[in-house]
Amino acid sequence: MKVSQTIKLARKNVSAARKQGKTIGLVPTMGALHRGHISLIEAAKKKCDYVVVSIFVNPTQFGPSEDFGKYPRPLEEDLKMCKKAGADLVFNPSVEEMYPEKNITWVNVEKITENLCGRSRPRHFRGVTTVCTKLFNIVAPDMAFFGQKDAQQAIVIKRMVADLNMPLKIIVCPTVREQSGLALSSRNKYLSEQEREDAAYIYKSLQKCKEMIDSGGRNTETLINEMRNILQQKKSIKIEYISIVDEKTLENIDYIQDKALAAVAVRIGSTRLIDNFPIDITR
Ligand code: PAF
Repeated sequence: MKVSQTIKLARKNVSAARKQGKTIGLVPTMGALHRGHISLIEAAKKKCDYVVVSIFVNPTQFGPSEDFGKYPRPLEEDLKMCKKAGADLVFNPSVEEMYPEKNITWVNVEKITENLCGRSRPRHFRGVTTVCTKLFNIVAPDMAFFGQKDAQQAIVIKRMVADLNMPLKIIVCPTVREQSGLALSSRNKYLSEQEREDAAYIYKSLQKCKEMIDSGGRNTETLINEMRNILQQKKSIKIEYISIVDEKTLENIDYIQDKALAAVAVRIGSTRLIDNFPIDITR
């Protein structure tokens, strides 16, 4: 496995693989890797001949009062995990390499970035779409792999790729969970043991919603109230949103008709956690 800190070297390695006729898969990450990321690397290995993992804590997607400074950066461990999972190249640039000057060029997806996480993180998705565009331009992958846990991010990136005719396919892989149901996230590292136990109620609320939908529940107010009841059983959980939205527009809906997304964001202590499940009643 190779590690490149510079754009020039990353491009050189990728183009050598491309010259050998290999297809290129990119797994963009901010490091602090867990089994969720490993599942993305494994999916990339199944579908592509040469797998690039980017590890870059992207400052432009963090708000001024967010955790950019304290975001975990266990690089040595991350590199070991990438190697074990079979990555061919890790691209691990510095902030100066990615943003040599103050960024004034942005890729901005409108509308679908306004609801859900966009409400409390107003410029977050602009940072994500801009850095992903830069990574796609640097690596030129045939496919890029994202997790379902960040459902809005995956939908926004898919839309950006479609709107801008970017020549790659976006693959969304299932959320990986702890035994308790808690979705794996690099931010779970911030949780105390008690908080981690309480955080399992996020999944519990989503599961209840799924059960109600499976037995015919369609009114989103009723479903959301039930989810709120479950989350409120834990005093440590501060609800940011519980939403059921159209899977394309990401606007709130009153009634589930075909495909939708149930999504939750909470704070436990100072840790912000999100989770979701895609709804499809056409199946
Ligand atoms: O999901 C993440 O870790 C980040 O938002 C991403 C896609 C790597 C962009 O910085």
